Amino acid sequence: MATFFDALQGDQIEFIRRQHLFFVATAAAGGRINLSPKGMDTFRVIDPNTVAYLDMSGSGNETSAHLQDDGRITFMFCSFDQAPLILRLYGHGDVVRPGTPEWEALAPVFTQVHGQRQIIRARIESVQDSCGYAVPRYNFAGERDTLVKFFEGLTPEQIQAKQAGQVKSIDGLPVVPACAAPGR
Ligand SMILES: Cc1cc2nc3c(=O)[nH]c(=O)nc-3n(C[C@H](O)[C@H](O)[C@H](O)COP(=O)(O)O)c2cc1C
Repeated sequence: MATFFDALQGDQIEFIRRQHLFFVATAAAGGRINLSPKGMDTFRVIDPNTVAYLDMSGSGNETSAHLQDDGRITFMFCSFDQAPLILRLYGHGDVVRPGTPEWEALAPVFTQVHGQRQIIRARIESVQDSCGYAVPRYNFAGERDTLVKFFEGLTPEQIQAKQAGQVKSIDGLPVVPACAAPGR
């Protein structure tokens, strides 16, 4: 049976802190829905109605594009161990870029990573927990260091150039690059 909450409960926050993987979904009014798996200990609960994750540079910038266009966001955590549980967080998000006062305020809760690009922050309006009986069990084998190694091979200028090139979503929606000057 699914249960809804207006805010994250203490045990749910503890559950989130034990997870190595989360999923983030966003969509614009039209076009393809984005669904991304994320790891690397990048998710933080700021308060029972506010969460954020440190977003890494990638080959696209879908979540940011959709938040700039629409704002809706859904996070999912699911248990892969003995006790089954699926936790969904529903809300509206925005993008916090380096060089902004919000970045200065929020960035310290994260371990800085070479290759990071922005923070995705979300106001959580609804939380749903459900059973997850059909989710298989997995043992956590470890984080990948591939992304860090990938970006260690690049200079900050090369990383910025990569980010500056990401100005459109896969459906052509405009997106302000992570490295854009504050206020853009
Ligand atoms: C170095 C590198 C790392 C990436 N890491 C991820 C990742 O952790 N999760 C993911 O969904 N896509 C990853 N991607 C692929 C795309 O960047 C990503 O699927 C796409 O941009 C989706 O939107 P998002 O960036 O808002 O998640 C990576 C790409 C590159 C080049």
